Formats: sequence, structure tokens, C-alpha cells
Amino acid sequence: MTDLYQPLRVGKVDAPNRIFMAPCTRCRADLDQIPTAIMAEYYAQRATAGVLITEGVNPSPLGRSELNQPALYSDAHERGWIPVVDAVHEAGGRIFAQLMHAGRVSFPELLSGAATPVAPSAIRPDPDFRGYAVRCPRHDRPYPTPEALDAAGVEREIGHFVDATVRAVRAGFDGVEIHGAGGYLPMQFLSSSTNHRTDRYGGSLENRSRFLMDCVERASEAVGADRVGVKLSPAFNFNDVYDDAPQDLYASVAQRLSACGIAFIEVSDYRGRHSVREFDPVALIRRNFAGVVVANGGFDRDSADELVKSGGADAVSFGSMFIANPDLPERFRIDASLSRPDRSTYYTTPDGDLRVGYTDYANLRLEVL
Ligand SMILES: Cc1cc2nc3c(=O)[nH]c(=O)nc-3n(C[C@H](O)[C@H](O)[C@H](O)COP(=O)(O)O)c2cc1C
Repeated sequence: MTDLYQPLRVGKVDAPNRIFMAPCTRCRADLDQIPTAIMAEYYAQRATAGVLITEGVNPSPLGRSELNQPALYSDAHERGWIPVVDAVHEAGGRIFAQLMHAGRVSFPELLSGAATPVAPSAIRPDPDFRGYAVRCPRHDRPYPTPEALDAAGVEREIGHFVDATVRAVRAGFDGVEIHGAGGYLPMQFLSSSTNHRTDRYGGSLENRSRFLMDCVERASEAVGADRVGVKLSPAFNFNDVYDDAPQDLYASVAQRLSACGIAFIEVSDYRGRHSVREFDPVALIRRNFAGVVVANGGFDRDSADELVKSGGADAVSFGSMFIANPDLPERFRIDASLSRPDRSTYYTTPDGDLRVGYTDYANLRLEVL
């Protein structure tokens, strides 16, 4: 029977276990979006994950949703990631960069040259919806109406995803995960509430999938499909993004991604606010995708183990638990107690000390030594 400690081939890499780290934005890059030294330490501490997926990394100057988010669209960003990737590899780990483009979920102050946020259509998020943007001054206000991307803009933003993929692999990453979840730009194209376009990127389900598929196909051509993963959240309406027929949409997207032969799909099954629980998103993707399925959202050791043993997913990714327990696979293995994450230090730290709530969570083995 397959358990969490059976190795797993994920595209180009061999994962020694099926306990992955889910992407978690931590806002510890510098204001030019260049990774800092402490980020290398943080990710290396978590190198025993089967696969580490980084926090959202902006592929485009228009992709940012927080200050201090890292990016990967310049030579300086690319150089900045090398020590992070090297530290993880030296610690024996595997690491994919998550490419995250905020689209309409941003403020002009966060975008280079104070540009207007971009989206498939000029539809603003419900003004009552308050996003995260905690690292943006005056973030507690409605998001502005975005600018609809014209044809050249769509092409440009897809190009940014492809360039960032090439940069990621050149910097030494084992691959990239394209963020198609969470209500950010690719999901804004996928979803009927945010995409009212009448060109080939809007309307039919196939057209609404085109932005994501173009990014995936062109990234795959550039570096190989076995270095590309995708995150989807079919039953999650965070950032005020809805679809009229999500089961049809995501069955079709998963089938197309299957045909591309990508390394994995990470499926977020968030339970709680903003989630619709009319269907099981992990089972939906499993039925329609032949590659590695990584389930995510609210799992603990036993529920993860049960899902993998039942064949419902190949691996499970952990967000908040991995933030608080850098040695999570070992803790699960010996059934050790778990540290609880401190939400107040997710994105900011008191007195600007970047270590607090970041690199100062205990590693059991190191504590004993
Ligand atoms: C602090 C924090 C930051 C997050 N940032 C991201 C992100 O950058 N990209 C992303 O896809 N998901 C992000 N997430 C969501 C996680 O990847 C994951 O889907 C979610 O936490 C559910 O998994 P969990 O229950 O194991 O924490 C974040 C979650 C947390 C707690």
C-alpha cells in the first residue's frame, strides 16, 4: 500500500516522500522584490519536504499583490534566487518556484510606475471584499477597477510567465508551479464572473482556459513539461471569483493539462469561508488528470495518509503546518507534537526582525542535539 513515505517521481525529480510544502507568501524579499539571505535559510530548513513549492513569485511587473513579495522578471531577481535554490539543494531538497500573477487583486502603488492593475475584463472585486494585501500601505480599502488587457497585453503577460519559467530553471529550480488558483490572473481568465471577453480568450470554456493553457504549453516547450506544475482551486471563491459551472470547467482544464504531460496538479480543497462544497475538487481532478495529483487544504497526518493510501491523491501539500514545523515529515513519522503557526507573523514581524515567526520555529532533531 502506498503511504506518505513511499518515494514519488514528480516530473524530473524523485521525491523521497509525499509530504510537500504548499506555496506560502511570507513577504521577506526586499522592496525590489529580490530574495534575501534569510529566505535561503527558511527554505533550506524545510528541505525534507518531498517537494518544496515556493511562495508566490511575480513573473511580471504587473503581478504583485504585496510589498516584499519576491519576483522573477529581471536578471537581479534571477541572481537573487540562486543562493536560495543552492541552499535547498545542498540540504538535499527539491524546489519549484510558484509563478503568481495577482491580476486585478492589486493596487496601483504595488505596480511599477503605479500602473492600474490588469485583468481579463474591467470588473472590480466586490468592494466589500477585503483581500490580504497586508504589506501594501492603506490596503484596507476596495480594490480599484482593473484595466482589461488588450490582445497585446495578454500576449505580453503570457510571455512573462514563459520568461520567468526559463529564468527559474536557469537559476537552478527543479521546475515551476503556475498559480492557476486563489482568484489570481489565470483563474480570473478561467472564471465566468471575471472573464467577459469576446475574443479568443473569453466566452467558451475552451477560450477561458486559453490563457492558462498558453502559459503551460509555452513554458513546457521552453523547459519541458516535466518541469511544469499547476495549482488549481476549483471550489474556492476567494478574491470574489466565481464560475457558473466549475465542474465542467475544471474537468476540461484537467484533461487538457493531462494531454500536456505536466509534472503535477496541486488541488486546493480549502474548507471554510469562500469555499463551495458541492463537489470534491480533488476527486474531480483525479478523475480527469493522469499525472501526479497533490491534494491540499486542511489536512493532518492521518487524513493525508488515508487519502494517499486510498489512491485519492499521490501526495499532500501542507501550508500552515510547514510554516510552523520545518521538519514536518519527521514529526509525522514519529508522531511528535506539532508547533502551531503564529498568524500574526505570517507577513510581518514586530520591529522588522525578519526571523521572528519565520526561521525561528524549532526543528526537533536540532533541539535535541
Ligand atoms: C501565510 C500563507 C500564505 C500563503 N500564500 C500562498 C501563495 O503565495 N500561493 C498559494 O498558492 N497559496 C498560498 N497560501 C495557501 C496555501 O498554499 C494552502 O493552499 C493553504 O494554506 C491550505 O493548506 P493548509 O491547510 O495545509 O495550510 C498561503 C497560505 C498561508 C497560510
